[in-house]
Amino acid sequence: MTSNTSISHKKLGQWVTEAAAMCQPDEIHWCDGSQEEYDGLCNHMVDSGMATRLNPGKKPGCFLFRSHPSDVARVEDRTYIASRTKDDAGPTNNWMDPAELKKKMTALYTGCMKGRTMYVIPFSMGPIGSSISKIGVEITDSPYVVVNMRIMTRIGTRVLDALGSTGEFVPCLHSVGAPLAKGQKDSTWPCAPDIANKYISHFPEERTIWSYGSGYGGNALLGKKCFALRIASVQARDEGWLAEHMLILGITNPQGKKKYFAAAFPSACGKTNLAMMIPTIPGWKVETVGDDIAWMKFGPDGRLYAINPESGFFGVVPGTSMDSNANAMLSIQKNTLYTNVVLTQDNDVWWEGIGFDPPQGKNIDWTGQEWDMSARRVGAHPNARFTAPATQCPVVDPAWENPLGVPISAILVGGRRPTTIPLVHQAFSWNHGVFLGSIVGSETTTANIGAVGVVRRDPFAMLPFCGYNMGDYLAHWISIGTKTSAEKLPKIFYVNWFRKSDDGKWLWPGYGENSRVLKWIFERTEGSANGVESPIGYLPSQDGIDTNGLQVTASDMKELFKVDVAEWKKEVVGIKDHYKKLGSKLPAALSDELSALEKRLG
Ligand code: GTP
Ligand code: SPV
Ligand code: MN
Repeated sequence: MTSNTSISHKKLGQWVTEAAAMCQPDEIHWCDGSQEEYDGLCNHMVDSGMATRLNPGKKPGCFLFRSHPSDVARVEDRTYIASRTKDDAGPTNNWMDPAELKKKMTALYTGCMKGRTMYVIPFSMGPIGSSISKIGVEITDSPYVVVNMRIMTRIGTRVLDALGSTGEFVPCLHSVGAPLAKGQKDSTWPCAPDIANKYISHFPEERTIWSYGSGYGGNALLGKKCFALRIASVQARDEGWLAEHMLILGITNPQGKKKYFAAAFPSACGKTNLAMMIPTIPGWKVETVGDDIAWMKFGPDGRLYAINPESGFFGVVPGTSMDSNANAMLSIQKNTLYTNVVLTQDNDVWWEGIGFDPPQGKNIDWTGQEWDMSARRVGAHPNARFTAPATQCPVVDPAWENPLGVPISAILVGGRRPTTIPLVHQAFSWNHGVFLGSIVGSETTTANIGAVGVVRRDPFAMLPFCGYNMGDYLAHWISIGTKTSAEKLPKIFYVNWFRKSDDGKWLWPGYGENSRVLKWIFERTEGSANGVESPIGYLPSQDGIDTNGLQVTASDMKELFKVDVAEWKKEVVGIKDHYKKLGSKLPAALSDELSALEKRLG
């Protein structure tokens, strides 16, 4: 059994000893990552009332959790990039002086694990031992975090072995912020309910994460957004690679030729769905490498190679059905953790958009109250999530754990834009592609606590996840384009599945039908499909999109590809405002692209 003193990595042992002195847990448990440990924690959570074991006949190895109603999503307002200077965090991040933030948080952390066990989770982002992978160690007082981390990352003794006695790791300190007095009964979802007591803090120069007060998703599973995006984006800037909020998919054409695409869409805008999609066009196949995060580095051949640093899916549940995403449905039938969905009387789960009505009888909604379809509220929280191992995905790509990554031919950017942006257009060049990434906008979703449905600019879907100045980040993207020859760089495309008609209906059916757009992109990267030059980029030619068997009217198709100059002139005003907010660090190459667009619009 590992202990703080037996550990050969002095720095790690010392950090854990210091954290324990501050947080004052009753016990310390070093996670070995074994199945027995996982089962033991699940049993313990069932006994304490935090988890419900689902019907083993229907959902073997699955558990349901209900969060506190205040703790249902990431908290961007309480997320800090505490770099030494405010300018390094930039205009889009919350900043606080690191010393001041540490002082505030030390006060909160002091004694915060009283009555609880402190778990130490060594984890690897990426396959253990791969040169692209990076190691972190999360300290947490939440057994829910431990079991989720075991699915989402590679954890345990084998990671400690890879770390050796001097290896580098990112220290990730987490507490739910709910110490227990002697004899006090625990709640089923301990957290610090007052939002002002939640902090998701990053110290980029120290490569350190401190999270307090929330037990949910990206606030608490620190390998994900905190490490693999916010800290890793800083490492990527310093080391010449890219850490991005992107899915990775493999796509094979009817002739058997395979390519890989990466795609950046904001939270709850369709990454998991696209990564696992079943093409509606015959002969095409899509396979999943990752559904949320891509780390991309140049290979010896000068192409960009991507790995998925995660090992599981933390996916949006509502809307997932055999019709919308069969591969996700099949991935979550066993060994899956469900958070904030409906519990049915027969101990199964249900949610809005599952494709059938909930069974009769006593259903319990995500708030723990009795619920049926007549209730005037949803049964599952809109940001309810599943946690499932990637290996359970029927279309997981054979190369998904390849330590060298997969070569990327195209990068897609997109978001929820009810107007203006066509179904797909292609950038004229790398810099123009970075411009398209920089102007991505999307209606906000329930993946963050805050207003929903407001269009905001979200460059490369990284607004909440970039660990440094957004202007510097975009300059880094421009610089990546100078590191290899143009034909080796991925081609960049802007897609929009979410354009609406005047009466508010989706113009495009989406999901599997998006394969028609992927096909055009595939053929563009081959040089075999035509592109028609427009002021905003290349559009497919009249017959460029395969519409065989598609149920979309000709007039809707026209609308989907409409480039309305008046609307785009309005868009330019919005982009100028956005660029002004990004400040002086915005690279000149992007203001040049904006001027060129303005000129082309006439
Ligand atoms: P995060 O896990 O938060 O990063 O989300 P994500 O980007 O993986 O989004 P996800 O695939 O879970 O989709 C979120 C929501 O968008 C779900 O309700 C989907 O049903 C819906 N959605 C996904 N793809 C499409 C599409 O092509 N068209 C439409 N209209 N909706 C879609
Ligand atoms: C997102 O919000 O982009 C997610 C969910 O993938 S969370 O892990 O909570 O960040
Ligand atoms: Mn995400």
